Amino acid sequence: MALVTTTEMFKKAYHGGYAVGAFNVNNMEIVQGITEACREEKAPVILQVSKGARAYANHTYLVKLVEAAVLECPEIPIALHLDHGDSFETCKSCIDGGFTSVMIDASSKPFAENIAITRKVVEYAHDHGVVVEAELGALAGVEDEVSVDADNAHYTRPEEVEEFVAKTGCDSLAIAIGTSHGAYKFKPGTNPQLRFDILEEIVKKLPEFPIVLHGSSSVPQEYVQMVNTYGGAMPGAIGVPEEQLRHAAKLAVCKINIDSDLRLAMTGTIRKFFAEHPDKFDPREYLKPARANIKEMVRHKLINVLGCAGKA
Ligand code: G3H
Ligand code: 13P
Ligand code: ZN
Repeated sequence: MALVTTTEMFKKAYHGGYAVGAFNVNNMEIVQGITEACREEKAPVILQVSKGARAYANHTYLVKLVEAAVLECPEIPIALHLDHGDSFETCKSCIDGGFTSVMIDASSKPFAENIAITRKVVEYAHDHGVVVEAELGALAGVEDEVSVDADNAHYTRPEEVEEFVAKTGCDSLAIAIGTSHGAYKFKPGTNPQLRFDILEEIVKKLPEFPIVLHGSSSVPQEYVQMVNTYGGAMPGAIGVPEEQLRHAAKLAVCKINIDSDLRLAMTGTIRKFFAEHPDKFDPREYLKPARANIKEMVRHKLINVLGCAGKA
């Protein structure tokens, strides 16, 4: 199967009560860990690339890595998505360069400006058979070097979504209901709670429309402890409770973004490896267990969080 857009994936996910995982990729081992789990579990998958990933690994290397995964996993649908596109030019470069889906994130701009830039991206993308994710609302945390503090974060306003989708023609909408980017999503000792009431209001206004959740790593404590045990310092790293993500996936949320969990699994595993094998220096030896742990973590998400195992 060639690279696909997310259109069919989202239609099935919406009606099937599950979400497709959107995992950020930055190198070969991450691509392999994710797609091997998806192939074995027969799950559709979105591989997404941020502006930072393109700066780090180079657009062509990332596209070719994803194309290699498509060849290795012909049984499952794979979409290649631009995460947090910051301008028309970045989106155009990905549309021209082989992506099947782009996000234009103008959520920090005033409403009318967000509509105008999103509309421009949608027109170009649709002319080229590519789909577009847009965003309304502001998540806290750091995304592509832009840091939004808790005071400037705000939930998506349900009263704005109908007009936004109608005027932009976007294919899916990322919303802010309490998730945030990074590994420190909630204060220790508090009770993490997503705003399902806002999600339900939005669904009433946009029936059958695919909703996206960013900042949806669950920050597995197993890996936080591994990092902290082997020389790291990540006190108080807390993510979104998995049962709340599962609940969101049963509603209109069709795409759930996960990046920090991949980073934690990789970093924790490598830290442990070096602590236990101070004499080793072959990158294949420490990247192999890191890739294996990414694969098992993704498998767990597909089965227990996203509910998309067996849906390819
Ligand atoms: O939302 C941001 C993603 O986690 C990508 O992060 O910009 O550091 O690649 P990055
Ligand atoms: P996390 O930081 O929770 O993994 O979120 C990733 C994300 O939303 C990428 O766009
Ligand atoms: Zn994001």
